[in-house]
Amino acid sequence: MKKRATTNRPEGGVLPPPRGEGWGEGEEAHRIHQRLRTEIHRPSSEESTRVPQPALKGSEALVVGIANENSIAYGCAKAFHELGADVAITYLNDKAKPYVEPLARGVKAPLFLPLDFAQAGALESVFEQITQTWCRLDILVHSAAFAPKEDLQGGLLNCSAEGFAKAMDISCHSFIRMARLAAPLMKNGGTMFTMTYHGANKVISNYNVMGPVKAALECACRYLALELGPKKIRVHAMSPGPLKTRASSGLKDFDRLLADAEERAPLGELVDIMDVGFACAYLATPYARRITGGTIYVDGGANIRA
Ligand SMILES: NC(=O)c1ccc[n+]([C@@H]2O[C@H](COP(=O)([O-])OP(=O)(O)OC[C@H]3O[C@@H](n4cnc5c(N)ncnc54)[C@H](O)[C@@H]3O)[C@@H](O)[C@H]2O)c1
Repeated sequence: MKKRATTNRPEGGVLPPPRGEGWGEGEEAHRIHQRLRTEIHRPSSEESTRVPQPALKGSEALVVGIANENSIAYGCAKAFHELGADVAITYLNDKAKPYVEPLARGVKAPLFLPLDFAQAGALESVFEQITQTWCRLDILVHSAAFAPKEDLQGGLLNCSAEGFAKAMDISCHSFIRMARLAAPLMKNGGTMFTMTYHGANKVISNYNVMGPVKAALECACRYLALELGPKKIRVHAMSPGPLKTRASSGLKDFDRLLADAEERAPLGELVDIMDVGFACAYLATPYARRITGGTIYVDGGANIRA
């Protein structure tokens, strides 16, 4: 069998011909060749997907949206911690604090901070603490939503302007504000996540005002992905199937939605918070370095059904 010629050429770069083959002789030509050789070198796929063990070792993550042990955000915090990341955790207010504190301790959170998006300066103060402690950030999870009960349950036609604006501010614009503060800290690139739901794309009974709000959130992810792509920051809208949580308890007939999701899912099962957490963990590794801007379903495949 003919042996293939091998070169020292790094993958991905086009090198000028080596010394004495058309670029002239002499020290100058050699120097230019060496400089181009270094500058043109781009890491190969193998080099850029080299993942530490465990996969998120050395990563700094901020997780917003844990209310209790059923929260999707808690699944993310647990998965990140299990895979070696440091995880900063926030809680809504003093009432929520006792429920979240033991969970933060369980994942050895080095930072445990209050955060209510509706309070002026609260987000800035969280990012100040992160800057002081880590000086950088690799992973951001926004897993929070809110709509006033009467506006959520009264149907979209009856949703008030104030209720609509509040739902949009807490559930969508807060992610944009977080992304703005997080981006400068993602000095070596990073990954941002928010949580959406299939009600953004298909009409799901009782989802009401949250449908247009989540549609805006998914769209915001696409635009953020475009703006942040040059900094190697990737943005994902995660779309879990229905899960029993504090937030979902505000939806009318939620048990029916659960039963329906189980029946429709090709995999025949409901998802749990760790399914979402580990999907986010994978997307935060270099294995997923070319995936951004999309809506990622974690729903057992239910969304493909007509
Ligand atoms: N549970 C589901 O079936 C489901 C499905 C798809 C998407 N989601 C989305 O997942 C995300 C997390 O919800 P969850 O189901 O884990 O419920 P959850 O109740 O556990 O979490 C909602 C979080 O939003 C936070 N929040 C509300 N108002 C806030 C404010 N003003 N400032 C800061 N935080 C605030 C709450 O403190 C809470 O931690 C939401 O965006 C929700 O829409 C949920």
